[in-house]
Amino acid sequence: MMLRVQGLAKRFGGLVAVSDLDFEVTEGEIFAIIGPNGAGKTTTLNMISGLLTPSAGRIELAGRDITHANSAERCHAGLGRAFQVVQPFPEMTVEENVMVGALYGAPGTSNAVARRRAADALERSGLDALRDVPAEELTLLQEKRLEIARALATAPRVLLLDEVMAGLRPAEARLAVGLVREVRDQGVTVVFIEHVMPVVRDLADRVLVMDYGRPLALGSYAEVTADARVIEAYLGRDDEEDEA
Ligand SMILES: Nc1ncnc2c1ncn2[C@@H]1O[C@H](COP(=O)(O)OP(=O)(O)OP(=O)(O)O)[C@@H](O)[C@H]1O
Ligand SMILES: [Mg+2]
Repeated sequence: MMLRVQGLAKRFGGLVAVSDLDFEVTEGEIFAIIGPNGAGKTTTLNMISGLLTPSAGRIELAGRDITHANSAERCHAGLGRAFQVVQPFPEMTVEENVMVGALYGAPGTSNAVARRRAADALERSGLDALRDVPAEELTLLQEKRLEIARALATAPRVLLLDEVMAGLRPAEARLAVGLVREVRDQGVTVVFIEHVMPVVRDLADRVLVMDYGRPLALGSYAEVTADARVIEAYLGRDDEEDEA
């Protein structure tokens, strides 16, 4: 098992953002987390990546308890993440931005090694030709690629993606879907949060549906989208965008 979450919970004061959350992700799997706004998806990813401390529960990465490891330790243990809001260093080149990822993933790395890791991540994410371009000149799709490249440069075993398709046009989202598949095919386990349902359908081996901080359903895309509780809580709502 690559990632195991047991009894995970997070309270913010009186608000229970996540509770009673259990799931396991197999090595090489693409695992989606979906659910309505405020369901606790980002909070869950933040606990896995170490940005937030769980109120209860346990997180294991490849059999190792990382519940209380800090973000840097998790990164070294093999966790990489791309953020919901893309925040590259605007005046640095694409290559320099990715090198920051490589250096963060393994402190003490020489610049030469970081440059080699960055080159590898740029190639894997299709950004090779743009390496010398300042990040501020990238299109949104290219920024998302950069965000994934930065995470890849930390040499993750598990990549956490929070709504990386948000704001992309359908054709761009299809390219990004292809990129995530390639990353998985290179041996990286992927856990992603997504509202765009065609993307979930095309990518996910299994889907966890969250609602009010709790797991509502877990199964294949076909299984969860046929589940009456999921339709009631999420898919039937008309304030969610699910076209693409
Ligand atoms: N730092 C925080 N302090 C207080 N409450 C928070 C904090 N972060 C999240 N929450 C609350 O926890 C709940 C879960 O939020 P979370 O961001 O995890 O939802 P989400 O499923 O990612 O939603 P979305 O689809 O809108 O991104 C919400 O009620 C949110 O307002
Ligand atoms: Mg979120």
